[in-house]
Formats: sequence, C-alpha cells, structure tokens
Amino acid sequence: MTIRQERLDHLLSRLGYCSRSEVRDWLRAGRISVPGVTERLRSGSKVNADQVRVDGEAIDPARPLYLLYHKALGTVCAHDDPHSIYDDLPMRWRYRRPVVSSAGRLDRDTSGLLLLSDDGQWLHRWSHARNLVPRHYRVLLAEPLRNDAEQILASGNLLLEGENTPCKPAQVQRLGEREIRLTLREGRYHEVRRMMAALGNHVQALHREGFGPFTLGDLQPGAWRFLQENEMQQETAE
Ligand code: URA
Repeated sequence: MTIRQERLDHLLSRLGYCSRSEVRDWLRAGRISVPGVTERLRSGSKVNADQVRVDGEAIDPARPLYLLYHKALGTVCAHDDPHSIYDDLPMRWRYRRPVVSSAGRLDRDTSGLLLLSDDGQWLHRWSHARNLVPRHYRVLLAEPLRNDAEQILASGNLLLEGENTPCKPAQVQRLGEREIRLTLREGRYHEVRRMMAALGNHVQALHREGFGPFTLGDLQPGAWRFLQENEMQQETAE
C-alpha cells in the first residue's frame, strides 16, 4: 500500500488546526513534531498524516470522517446558527475541508440519529431517495391514532398538503395509546409531522431511533462516535 504524503502546512490547514501561515509559528514554538524524522521540519515538508503530532497528540484522521451522532432537541442542522449541531464536534472541524455535513436533516424539535461525514458521496448514498433507506421514528401524538392509520400509511396514497406525489408506504407499530413507532423510506421536509397532520393528529414529540442498519446504542444527546470500518461499508438496504 502506498501512503500518500502531503505538505505539512496544507495538511494542518485542511484539517482545521491552523492556517497555512500559522504552521511556521507552530513549528517555531515546537508544537508540531513527527517522531523519527531527523531533518528539520518546515511548512513545506512532505509528511505522512498518521505520523504528525500536535502538542504531542496524534492528529485527526486525514481521510474522510464517518460519524454516528445523537442530535439533541433544540439544535439545528445548519452550520451558521447559534444552536448548530456542529457545535457538538471539535471546534477545528469547522475549518476542515471538505466540510462535515449530515445525511438528511432533523428539525429543531426532533432528536435522534444522524450520520455525519465530509465524504459527500457516502452521505448521498444514505440520503438518496432511490436507496429507500428505512428511517425509524418514535412518535408521541396528541390524540390516539385513528383506527385505519396502518392501512392509509401503508397504501402509498397519502398526499401531504401542497404536494402532488403521494408518500411512499410507511409502517406503524402501536406502542401505547398515543405512542407509535413509524418507519419511512424517504425523507421529505417535516414528513412525520405532516403525515400525522394529514391523519388529523399532531406530533408532540419526535425522536429518530434508527436509520438503515444504524441505532444510537447508549450514545447520549449531543454525543458522537466514529463509525468502525465495517459499519461505514454497510449496505443501504436492510
Ligand atoms: N419528520 C419530521 O417531521 N421531522 C423530522 O425532523 C424528521 C422527519
């Protein structure tokens, strides 16, 4: 396997550590090291990312990041918002290029599972309508679900207000009088809330428990973890 070398200043600015010009100052201050390299390090030195240390610590993966994240209530999936989900990630990742984004979005009043990455193709694979990735939601309703809801949701004929294409068939499991688990295979704007409104109901609380083969496990709201190699490579269909 060939290990790609990269200019030190390019690498550290691309990963969001500092600007290219600051690398020189950091080198002078002794903050950057590459164990085993004997010649003097310069901003333009070619290095292997996995050998570089900043303040004695190994740097972030230079390859794309693949994360499982638990979105908390009250946060939004935008970069430029005072309640951005991206504030839960290390500060320097805001300057990482390419940018980290999510596979689809959850609205402000929805909590739960999101996949995050800076690999656009991978995100697209998980969010693309063609791949019919199942999204599992836990929903608390204002009223008991009407008796024929299963049939209507599974029919593939439910039209949302202002739309011409009906929703794809969805499955419901009743968990309590006003609590259901709903599985959708598409991701339209405020889809669960609008589906429940079309059934004459109202969503009081919404949480995404699962997305494709992924579940949150014991990840707490606002927390994230790196996906393992075998998790990242999972197929979109369940
Ligand atoms: N449906 C909604 O209404 N909101 C979400 O955040 C996700 C699905």
